[in-house]
Amino acid sequence: MGWVNRRRDLGNLIFVDIRDRSGVSQVVFNKERNAAIHEKASGLRNEYVIAVVGMVKLRDANTSNKNIPTGEVELVAEELRLLNESKQPPFLPGDTVLPNEEMRLKYRYLDLRRDAMQHNIELRHKVALAIRQNLSGQGFFEIETPFMTRSTPEGARDYLVPSRVQPGSFYALPQSPQLFKQILMISGFDKYFQIVRCFRDEDLRADRQPEFTQIDLEMSYPQPEHVWAVVEGFLTAAFKAAGHEIKTPFPRMSYDEAIRLYGSDKPDMRLPEMTDVREAFAAADIEKLGVNAALPLLAIRIPKVGKLSRKERDENKELFGVQTAEFNLLDMDRLEKSMPDAAEQLKGMSSAHPDDLIALVGAKHSSAFKTSVGGLGKVAGAYRLRLADKYRERHKAFERTGDPRHDFRFLWVTDFPMFEYDEEGKSWVPAHHPFTSPHEKDMNKLESDPGAVRALAYDVVLNGTELGSGSIRIHRQDIQKKIFHALGMTEDEARARFGFFLEALEYGTPPHGGIALGLDRIAMILAGADSLREVIPFPKTARAVDLMVDAPTPVSEAQLKELGIQVKK
Ligand code: AMO
Repeated sequence: MGWVNRRRDLGNLIFVDIRDRSGVSQVVFNKERNAAIHEKASGLRNEYVIAVVGMVKLRDANTSNKNIPTGEVELVAEELRLLNESKQPPFLPGDTVLPNEEMRLKYRYLDLRRDAMQHNIELRHKVALAIRQNLSGQGFFEIETPFMTRSTPEGARDYLVPSRVQPGSFYALPQSPQLFKQILMISGFDKYFQIVRCFRDEDLRADRQPEFTQIDLEMSYPQPEHVWAVVEGFLTAAFKAAGHEIKTPFPRMSYDEAIRLYGSDKPDMRLPEMTDVREAFAAADIEKLGVNAALPLLAIRIPKVGKLSRKERDENKELFGVQTAEFNLLDMDRLEKSMPDAAEQLKGMSSAHPDDLIALVGAKHSSAFKTSVGGLGKVAGAYRLRLADKYRERHKAFERTGDPRHDFRFLWVTDFPMFEYDEEGKSWVPAHHPFTSPHEKDMNKLESDPGAVRALAYDVVLNGTELGSGSIRIHRQDIQKKIFHALGMTEDEARARFGFFLEALEYGTPPHGGIALGLDRIAMILAGADSLREVIPFPKTARAVDLMVDAPTPVSEAQLKELGIQVKK
């Protein structure tokens, strides 16, 4: 049984490719053998649903197709039943040219019939199953936590659900199960996990959806290394389920080092790091270049790009695109002419090969007091990725073909800063979330120098994508209060938002920590896809719309009235 994938009418012979989840098989209707069903088969159209009974036969050598798994056999039809007809679909699952994404999402049920989507959804199932089994094997219980709850501070806006019985009151859909999982540690379930939907109203990008799935876990009494080993364990199982061997333990790098070497807190390790090449230049030359000698002069190296045309060099300059007066992109070609010795030396310092593309980024001399090492690093790091993206065909480091030699470069980034300064709100905000434990050694800087406090927070990164984020938590109420205070929250505000949690902390809370990884992101990378939409059966557009069911929608006056809600036009 299956769909008519394709029908070819050769007169006395009609060939129909019949398709189901497992693939396609060829069915032959032979007029000479059975004129009645041959006649019936001539009425079949694309995407009709049929049942066929017949004999499976080897094909003749000259019609055999070794490119598909069923290509050496065919089903000679003896019976045919039409189970259902289909309207002419706006696009066919077998089409080689994809329709535009809007069309794909509106007719998602048809889009999901395509081979690639069937494969991605199956892959996702296998990966999730492997993770579940692995975590259960590591002693974790899967425990559900509520969707109708209070706001969880993960830095996005909440989706709210109005209460009918208490008009004017709202549940929030969880941005993550963060507080519930910590409470589960207080409740004695010392290893928890959950493959769980989370909801965040935030600006969407290719790797963000408003509802997405986390592999969320928490454990009691861990050092960060224990959490990392658990994650490495289930990722090994997940990648194996997708046919890939990965190497553990993953390398580790502090946040500061990641910014210094890659200009990013999620370094893409498939490309070489950046090098500070100041020392290739005499002091007077640095002066001539107009760069600030107190900050690094960063050499970016993209392998195998080869000679650039004039046009490409100009485009590269445009890619740099930094509007401020603070940063400087030096012209390597000009430098090779004006300061050949320094150019030669800096190539040596960054271990460059003759066909590498080298770009130099420094701070302008005039920017001395504005630009930091980190700020410069981030500008250079972003440029590095733009260049790498532009020349991906040449360096091929980003190839994602499902090839078993696929280069999976995992990394733990550790020791994140505890706080970030929010220029808009003019206040310190948590870099991770406010339940993250600061480094013991940095506790005395909470008030005096918040920017220098490091957190026991870590990310797991794969090929430049943040897969997951976690931390060792605060388990003492007095310290939790101090952190709220450092975040500028009064005691009353803290009580109002997290009173239940502060109270729970007072009843013998064990030290605990955990992490959450994005299942969608893992599936996306394993599927070699560029967007989460390729691995989520019913995703939303960048404007958070579900085009198939057409949500969100206005609701009736009666429903609003019942909820005590008035909509302002
Ligand atoms: P965080 O907010 O960093 O941490 O989220 C963890 C991981 O979830 C995934 N993720 C997303 N995936 C798709 N779309 C989104 N909008 C989206 N937002 C996040 C990412 C990310 O790394 N409670 C903490 C974890 C902890 O401390 O244990 C948390 O949610 O892969």
